[in-house]
Amino acid sequence: MPTIIVNSSSPQTASPRTAVSLGRRRLLRVSGLGVLAVALSAAALARAPNTLGNVMILATGGTIAGSGATSTTTVGYTAATVGVDALLNSVPELKKVANVRGEQVFQIASENMNNDYWLKLAKRVNTLLAQDDVDGIVITHGTDTIEETAYFLDLVVKSRKPVVVVGAMRPSTAISADGPINLYNATLVAASEEAIGKGVLVVLNDQINAARDVTKSNTSTADTFRTPDLGMLGYVQGNKPYFYHLSARKNTVDTEFDIANLDTLPQVDIVYGYANMGRTPVDALVAAGVKGLVHAGVGDGSLANAVKPALIEARKKGVVIVRSSRVGSGIVARNGEANDDELDFVVSDTLNPQKARILLTLALTKTTDTKEIQRMFTTY
Ligand code: SIN
Repeated sequence: MPTIIVNSSSPQTASPRTAVSLGRRRLLRVSGLGVLAVALSAAALARAPNTLGNVMILATGGTIAGSGATSTTTVGYTAATVGVDALLNSVPELKKVANVRGEQVFQIASENMNNDYWLKLAKRVNTLLAQDDVDGIVITHGTDTIEETAYFLDLVVKSRKPVVVVGAMRPSTAISADGPINLYNATLVAASEEAIGKGVLVVLNDQINAARDVTKSNTSTADTFRTPDLGMLGYVQGNKPYFYHLSARKNTVDTEFDIANLDTLPQVDIVYGYANMGRTPVDALVAAGVKGLVHAGVGDGSLANAVKPALIEARKKGVVIVRSSRVGSGIVARNGEANDDELDFVVSDTLNPQKARILLTLALTKTTDTKEIQRMFTTY
C-alpha cells in the first residue's frame, strides 16, 4: 500500500456555509412549508464558492481496510487490519475534493457489528455534525452489515449534512481493489451540496443508494449493492454526483428517534421462515427475554401452522411481533396472510427483515403500542 501523506490533520478554515444554517433552518422548519423548507435549508448549508468542504472520515473496519496474503487474494483475506491514516494516505486524490480528517472509531469485521458499536458511532456522528467545521461525514465499513448501520444512522442522525457509508468488496492489497475509488467517490458525495438533506447514503461501485432500501445481493462481486424494485438514487461519474430519485420516507432530522441519552437498546431478534419450520426458535428467544421478534416469513410474510401459536403466545407475553418477508422485495400486506388486527401484529411494509429489526428496536425505545409501531413502519 502506498504511503503518501494527504491533509489528514486539521481542516482549513471553517466552511462559511454552516455559519448561517442553524437559525434559518429552525425558522423554516416551523413554517410548515415542507418541500420549500428542505430546499431552503439545503441552501442555508451551501458553501461559499471555490471552497472545499470539511469531511470527517470515520473508519470502522471491513474489507475496505482488509489485507490478503497476495495481490490475487480476493477471498480468505483478513478484514479490518489497515488503520484510517493508511486508508487516507492510499488515496491522495481525496484532498482535491475535500479537506479530510480521519478518525478510527473502532476496527471490526462488520459481522461483529452490535448495538454498542452503533450507539458509539451514531453519537460520534451527531457530535461531529453539530460542529461548524464539519460539512459531511464518510464512514468506512464492512459490506456485510453496511445496509444495517446505514439504516440505523438514517433513523438517528440529527443533521441534514451528508453522511455517506462506504465499503469495498476487495481487500486493499488486491489487484484492482475497489476501496480507493469507492472512498474517493464517497468523499466527493459527502463534500457535495447535492447530497445535503438526502438522508444517509451508501456509495459503492459508482452508485448512490438510499440507506433504507439498499441491500447486499451477491456474496462477492463488486456490483453487489442493489435497491430492489425501488431503484438507486444516482451515480457518481466524472467527479460529480448525479441524483435522480429520492426516498419518500422520513429520515434523520425528521424522525422521532433520539439516542443521545441511550446506553443500551431493546433486544430484538429475527426468526427465519422455511419449510418444516417448528416453534423452537420462537420459544427459545421468548424464554431468553427478547422484547421484539421479526418473523422473516415465506412469500408475503406467511406463518406456518407450527409457528403461529408460538408467535401468538409471545405476543400475549408482551413481545412485539413484526411480520416481514424473506423474499427480498415487495410490501408485506397488513391483514393479508394473517389477521394482524386480531393478532395484534405489525407488518414490515417493504423493509427486509434485518432493517425491520432495526426499526422495531428503535420503535421500542419510544413505545410498545403496536398501532404506534405500525405507524412508524409506514413512515420510515
Ligand atoms: C465485513 O463486512 O467486515 C467483511 C466483508 C466486507 O467488508 O466486504
